[in-house]
Amino acid sequence: MDNGAQTFVGIDIGTSFVKLIAMQTTNNNINVVGVGIAQSTGMNKGMVVDINQTVEDIKAAQKDLNKKSQILIDQVVVGIPTNYLSIKNLKGSIELGKDPREVNERDLKELVSSILNEHQSVENDFVGIAVEEFIVDNFDGISDPLGMMGTTLSIHCLAYAIPKTIFRNIIKAVERSGFKVRNIVLNPIAAAEVSLSSAQKEMGSILIDAGSGKTSYSIFQNNLLQMSGTIFEGGKNITSDISKVLKISEKDAESVKIDYGSLKTGQIQDSESFVIQSLDQANEVKVGDKYLSEIIHARFEQIFTKIKNKLNSTNAFDLPGGIIITGGNSALPGTEEEAGNILGRPVNIYIPNQIGLRSQIYTVAFGMIVHTWHLSRVQMILESTLKVNKFEKFQPEMQEEQTLNDENTDLNFGTESGVKSKPQKKEKKSGFFSSLRRWIYNLFE
Ligand SMILES: Nc1ncnc2c1ncn2[C@@H]1O[C@H](COP(=O)(O)OP(=O)(O)OP(=O)(O)O)[C@@H](O)[C@H]1O
Ligand SMILES: [Mg+2]
Repeated sequence: MDNGAQTFVGIDIGTSFVKLIAMQTTNNNINVVGVGIAQSTGMNKGMVVDINQTVEDIKAAQKDLNKKSQILIDQVVVGIPTNYLSIKNLKGSIELGKDPREVNERDLKELVSSILNEHQSVENDFVGIAVEEFIVDNFDGISDPLGMMGTTLSIHCLAYAIPKTIFRNIIKAVERSGFKVRNIVLNPIAAAEVSLSSAQKEMGSILIDAGSGKTSYSIFQNNLLQMSGTIFEGGKNITSDISKVLKISEKDAESVKIDYGSLKTGQIQDSESFVIQSLDQANEVKVGDKYLSEIIHARFEQIFTKIKNKLNSTNAFDLPGGIIITGGNSALPGTEEEAGNILGRPVNIYIPNQIGLRSQIYTVAFGMIVHTWHLSRVQMILESTLKVNKFEKFQPEMQEEQTLNDENTDLNFGTESGVKSKPQKKEKKSGFFSSLRRWIYNLFE
């Protein structure tokens, strides 16, 4: 099956780094065509705290990507952190008519839009939706009802929402950087796409994203993100601890952590040491590797003990898929053993294996691209009801029915929204859309 080449660009705006990845698909393969990374200075704990700074950081990541690849970026897939995530279990139905008729895309969209409208809140925006099952008349357990005959269509789904302030500032920062948002993906869903096997997602497992300003833990089961929580501590706190205890700058502390840091305290000889400059540059100070390791371990233990306590109140530790850890902070040597000791269960570390992405810091950006590439037609239709997603433009049936949900198709959080987006050449756009459309239909042939 030839799907034709498509390019996806994913952006992960973290506390330490903005990661921008461009990948191209051909047939069933996906390859990196560009990677850009920049220091993130406008984010803290999963929130934009300085939008101008975040815009500059995104542009710096784009500049970095363009040094290595001349790819023209227009639309991006945006990762959404799950701080303060609320998950709603929603149900709804629509009548198709007195006589059975075929379920079409418009029905799905109408069904989901009506449920989301009914449950929308003042504080939160819906940022994701996942189907548990469709029910056509009395037949349940249906994953794709399109084309089925019936008189009633019902859905059981999980709808994910986060505070509007968090969500809209991320989107605004991306748009002000000159990109259009193609679609959004929750960070744990992105990470799970590449780090968990289908069986782990189905049977149940715990995924930990050990980042810089936060460490998030998520539970997957029945192929759904069932729960996600956040500890607002991570690699940045470890760096800060080193800086304070050794009385060196944060910059030097970060270098010391990367060069000499480890969690394998018991395996380090007392004689092992390195030399650093004191903050006033006046003296050289000898630091034992073991001492450094103890500083790192204290914070690491605190983070993972908090996770253990949070997860102890769930059945997550009994899930057969086990525990997988990713994110930059899991690059500390000894993470697997120490996290395993603290959590009392074996853990595995996930590192992307793609050329150019072989670091845990890229897991989320890589995963959001693969997730978008793998989206089913039904999932695309459902997610097109979320305000920022642009999938409806890829669906010929929905294009003909533009009046259905026109008020939902454009995001306009303010005057600057989308202003700086690059104009697209018309014929190029239609070529891209038609090849995507071809790809979507090929998938279901
Ligand atoms: N080799 C390494 N050894 C130790 N720590 C590392 C290593 N590489 C990266 N880190 C740490 O990982 C963190 C960055 O990871 P990551 O990119 O996953 O975080 P982020 O996405 O920017 O932040 P967050 O997800 O918390 O908002 C930094 O604290 C950095 O010091
Ligand atoms: Mg992150």
